[in-house]
Amino acid sequence: MSVADTLTEALPPDRVRTEPDDLATWGTDWTRSYQVAPSAVVFPESVEEVAALTRLANDRGLALVPSGGRTGLSGGAVATSGEVVVSFDRMHRILGFNEADRIVRCQAGVVTQALQEFAQGKGLFYPVDFASSGSSQIGGNIATNAGGIKVIRHGLTRDWVAGLTVVTGAGQVLELNRGLVKNATGYDLRHLFIGSEGTLGFIVEADLKLAEPPAPQRVMVLGLDRFADALRVLPCFQARLTLSAFEFFSELALSKVLAHRELQRPLATPAAFYALLEFDADAEDAALAAFEEALAEGWASDGVMSQSDAQAAALWALREGITEGIAPQVPYKNDISVRISEVPGFLDDVNDIVSAHYPDLEVCWFGHIGDGNLHLNILKPKGLPIEDFYQRCHTISPKLFALIGARGGSISAEHGVGLLKRDFLHFSRSEEELALMRSLKRTFDPNGVMNPGKLLAMP
Ligand code: MLT
Ligand code: ZN
Repeated sequence: MSVADTLTEALPPDRVRTEPDDLATWGTDWTRSYQVAPSAVVFPESVEEVAALTRLANDRGLALVPSGGRTGLSGGAVATSGEVVVSFDRMHRILGFNEADRIVRCQAGVVTQALQEFAQGKGLFYPVDFASSGSSQIGGNIATNAGGIKVIRHGLTRDWVAGLTVVTGAGQVLELNRGLVKNATGYDLRHLFIGSEGTLGFIVEADLKLAEPPAPQRVMVLGLDRFADALRVLPCFQARLTLSAFEFFSELALSKVLAHRELQRPLATPAAFYALLEFDADAEDAALAAFEEALAEGWASDGVMSQSDAQAAALWALREGITEGIAPQVPYKNDISVRISEVPGFLDDVNDIVSAHYPDLEVCWFGHIGDGNLHLNILKPKGLPIEDFYQRCHTISPKLFALIGARGGSISAEHGVGLLKRDFLHFSRSEEELALMRSLKRTFDPNGVMNPGKLLAMP
């Protein structure tokens, strides 16, 4: 019996696809660097169908790969070895909203932007935001504990999850926390599933908290001569006002965005680096005072502040357009973090690695420096085969990761581990932790049907 025929025991045939185009589309995420080879793609519509599929996978020895908006950057939702891709595209409904609780219940396939718009319609706010909000899905965001551009003020996806319905790898349906604010009844399994990258089970529905709508915002972009100035500018502003965002990018990153999209340069004279700050409009005077100090101290060379929402959006586009702007060069993405206090020394480490090992390559710096999170993207030179390029980066990564490990940092700040970072996990997690993680995996997914090969290498 073919895999597709087997799958029709759990789903109607029109929701099981095996055409090559469909396999190629749903079998991958944004990494684009793996050979994609799923055996089928399925589209469940309910929790019961996901549970039936999972039980079938256990009975028949099928491997399942959860798939959301496919915007992942670490190969967490890629199917390379005949797995069945379980797409949440048909589970895209908002199921309910409770005004008193300010909690919205979503199916896993609700797109982030749809949730943001729903919240706005209720006079509220879903604050987790990133460039991929128009495609990324809530289930994937939760499975990777997605961060993004507003973490400095509003936290990570984890901070907004009040409850989860999950289907474990064994096919059990669990209701975790049920939207409670207080629940001191032992292990909070909800938090175990957040960031588990589909290795323990499927996130099928979620209760998400909504916040008060934000005040009107202003955006400022500053030119910086040295990267280290970003870390002088940050406390200078934070001493005077609450920041909603503090992002940075290099001139190389900006040039890639400008080559890709019709946007204006933020400043008349190019700078080596740029910081993008967002804050409440009523903190404008405080922000201008901080800017004056940064100029006087030589930490900033120039600056611009948005005078309208359209201008604010245009400034944000310079930062949010980077991923797309560099995508044609198939970047090797390092998504690394340390505690804020470690950032200055860490930047010296990173500089040493880059100049010693990548002197001939374009290295594109950007990220969420206010969270201690740096995106260091190595761009593939034209003509170099992708396998050779990745091989070279993979041999250099351990040198960088060893320095990060020594500083107590993380080899994956917000993109997850997936396939891309799996073999480097020991730089951020001890042997004891890894052994406990493997035994948790075996407890929730005894037959190893859930996203095999991702996050953890299982012996
Ligand atoms: C970002 O910060 O823009 C995202 O993490 C995506 C990326 O790193 O490419
Ligand atoms: Zn990021």
